[in-house]
Amino acid sequence: MLPRAEALDLLRSHNPEPHLVQHALATEVVMRGLAARFGQDAELWGLAGLLHDIDYPLTKETPERHGLVAVDLIGDRLPPEAVQAIVAHNSECTGREPASLFDRALRCGESVTGLVSAAALVRPTGMDGMQASSLKKKMKDKAFAASVSRERIRECETIGLELGEFLTIAIEAMTPAAAELGLTR
Ligand SMILES: [Fe+2]
Repeated sequence: MLPRAEALDLLRSHNPEPHLVQHALATEVVMRGLAARFGQDAELWGLAGLLHDIDYPLTKETPERHGLVAVDLIGDRLPPEAVQAIVAHNSECTGREPASLFDRALRCGESVTGLVSAAALVRPTGMDGMQASSLKKKMKDKAFAASVSRERIRECETIGLELGEFLTIAIEAMTPAAAELGLTR
């Protein structure tokens, strides 16, 4: 398996902007949290989270290629199930439907990072003490983090997680990484 340090170097070589790296790192920790919840391979799920948007800067103008260019960049460094999850995370454009637990976890897992990050940035204590219940309220406010797809977050139900539990997993995964994620105040 691709060593994590090499994966991070690969990511940084294509995603130099700090906010893109932070989104990748946040997705990594959430995917590790979800893997732990489901007894899956945390290393593999984490790497898929870390690299899922690696082609983002290259596909900004061609969203239908987002996920497919990633396959070229990753090559054979990740196993097929991780590559499939990365392509299916953009199924709306790639047409590759999410099929496995892994695929579905990556879709909701990468989306929830935006909600948690936005909430941390408006809280006086950042990530500290964040509760799922307050995130649920924020989800109902359409103006809050408007670009974050609520529908995608609610796809947690497709992997058998009730929204509150899913949000708690995301909070618990991201809290210890708050400094690295740029979420400390
Ligand atoms: Fe993403």
